Amino acid sequence: MREIGDVILDLRSVSLAFGGVKALTDISFDVREHEIRAIIGPNGAGKSSMLNVINGVYRPQEGEVILRGEHFRRMDPYRVARAGIARTFQSLALFKGMSVIDNIMTGRNLKMKANLFQQAVWWGPAQREELAHRAKVEEIIDFLEIQHIRKTPVGRLPYGLQKRVDLGRALAMEPQILLLDEPMAGMNVEEKQDMSRFILDVNDQFGTTIVLIEHDMGVVMDLSDRVVVLDYGRKIGDGSPDEVRTNPEVIKAYLGASH
Ligand SMILES: Nc1ncnc2c1ncn2[C@@H]1O[C@H](COP(=O)(O)OP(=O)(O)OP(=O)(O)O)[C@@H](O)[C@H]1O
Ligand SMILES: [Mg+2]
Repeated sequence: MREIGDVILDLRSVSLAFGGVKALTDISFDVREHEIRAIIGPNGAGKSSMLNVINGVYRPQEGEVILRGEHFRRMDPYRVARAGIARTFQSLALFKGMSVIDNIMTGRNLKMKANLFQQAVWWGPAQREELAHRAKVEEIIDFLEIQHIRKTPVGRLPYGLQKRVDLGRALAMEPQILLLDEPMAGMNVEEKQDMSRFILDVNDQFGTTIVLIEHDMGVVMDLSDRVVVLDYGRKIGDGSPDEVRTNPEVIKAYLGASH
């Protein structure tokens, strides 16, 4: 049984601007171990920017990120991966010509590179390591129920399955914190149900902490323990799904939005 733990990731007064565009203004929220924490808000609210601050792609002008008690003005992508943070992308970033299995294998690269020296001087252990990586990837393929397409080039798959492969690539990093940027965008109802089930299973079976950006409010309400709401780069709500759903400011932002 999953039990929500202490704060593992803490964002404090984060502000980020691109020239004159304020993408994030004074945003603070925390993420507890093993929880599913949703970030919602209308288009352009700053949701993806928030994930990019967490994983060190964007450098905020103000504020800090505290990861397991360690303070960072800026996260460094390499350190982020080492710290067990993986992500999926709003626009898919898979190698379309490569097979499903090879795409998921790219998620193991960081773990393999750590042993490059050993691989160069001693073939035996390196070969065993390669086998161990393959076994892990096969485990993920079983978990995501994509055995039947393991050799198929990703570009030939329907969109919903490509998103599942992208999740597999992130899972191959064996993350402790998984950042999902609209994992269900563009999916039909059935694909959304499948993806929801996989997200819940990852959270439940592996204990992975999940930060989830999602537009579908039904999905958000079903999956998340707590929700933070952004609008025009500001935080306008934070709490349980029920608290957020009945928050007048949140209702106003959504009624005024195009979707
Ligand atoms: N690299 C960038 N350079 C310039 N402006 C950017 C950049 N990234 C984001 N922005 C701007 O920051 C604001 C927030 O964008 P962001 O992509 O974080 O929103 P979002 O909530 O993820 O929106 P969506 O729901 O459309 O994905 C927008 O005004 C966007 O144009
Ligand atoms: Mg976005």
